Amino acid sequence: MAEVVIVPTPAAGGEIVADEIVRLVRSTPTAVLGLATGSTPLPVYEALRPRLAGVDVSQVRGFALDEYVGIEPRHPESYRAVITREVVEPLGLDPDRVQVPDGSLDGIEHAGSDYEAALRTAGGVDLQILGIGTDGHIGFNEPGSSFASLTRVKTLTAQTREDNARFFDSIDQVPMHCITQGLGTILRARHLVLLAFGAGKADAVAGALEGPLSASLPGSAIQLHPHATVVVDEAAATALRFADYYRYTFANKPEWQGL
Ligand code: GLP
Repeated sequence: MAEVVIVPTPAAGGEIVADEIVRLVRSTPTAVLGLATGSTPLPVYEALRPRLAGVDVSQVRGFALDEYVGIEPRHPESYRAVITREVVEPLGLDPDRVQVPDGSLDGIEHAGSDYEAALRTAGGVDLQILGIGTDGHIGFNEPGSSFASLTRVKTLTAQTREDNARFFDSIDQVPMHCITQGLGTILRARHLVLLAFGAGKADAVAGALEGPLSASLPGSAIQLHPHATVVVDEAAATALRFADYYRYTFANKPEWQGL
């Protein structure tokens, strides 16, 4: 099962994950990071900034999970722009080594298979950062997504468009379609690190970790992964049945084990 770490604050969660990423980059300077957008991973990127100062990141590669379809890459809310602003620039990554699925309408029919090919050529993702939507989606794999799915175009649910409207001037500006790594793609990463903060995520987290495996709750796919870490704050942990066991396990974690 996934290791569940219950932290007092999102900042504390960000620090734990950032420490693990720094360990990875120090031991493997060519590490491939799976990058997520949304507000949840921001504490990780913030904590990484001082920790990566002085660490050689010139060979690190990055792959984003998803992108809106039909949005201009220069639009401030395109995931290309968000990843550049929040990850590539502050962490000093080489922009040429960080890819985001191509959501341009021109060529969209082969954008998914191109991205799969690029991931394979890079040797796959070493550590994949994940958030989770209130409906249980990871990446943009909305309920019903196959556990075997690969990078492809999806239609966003009304719920996700409403959730993401806060980044746009109005809900009408939130694109209807997206291109996202599939659940099968995500499951190929060597280490999954899912973060969730706030009461609004409590049901999705409990369903993903402790509910039945179901395409209706795409986040439950993490139960299939041999090395998954879930970092939640107290509010996001409130619906977890085995919270006491997770706390006890983490408190008694052997020193030699990383995340
Ligand atoms: C978006 C992203 C997901 C993210 C989710 C949650 O739809 N495509 O990758 O996990 O929203 O967002 P937030 O972290 O802002 O709650």
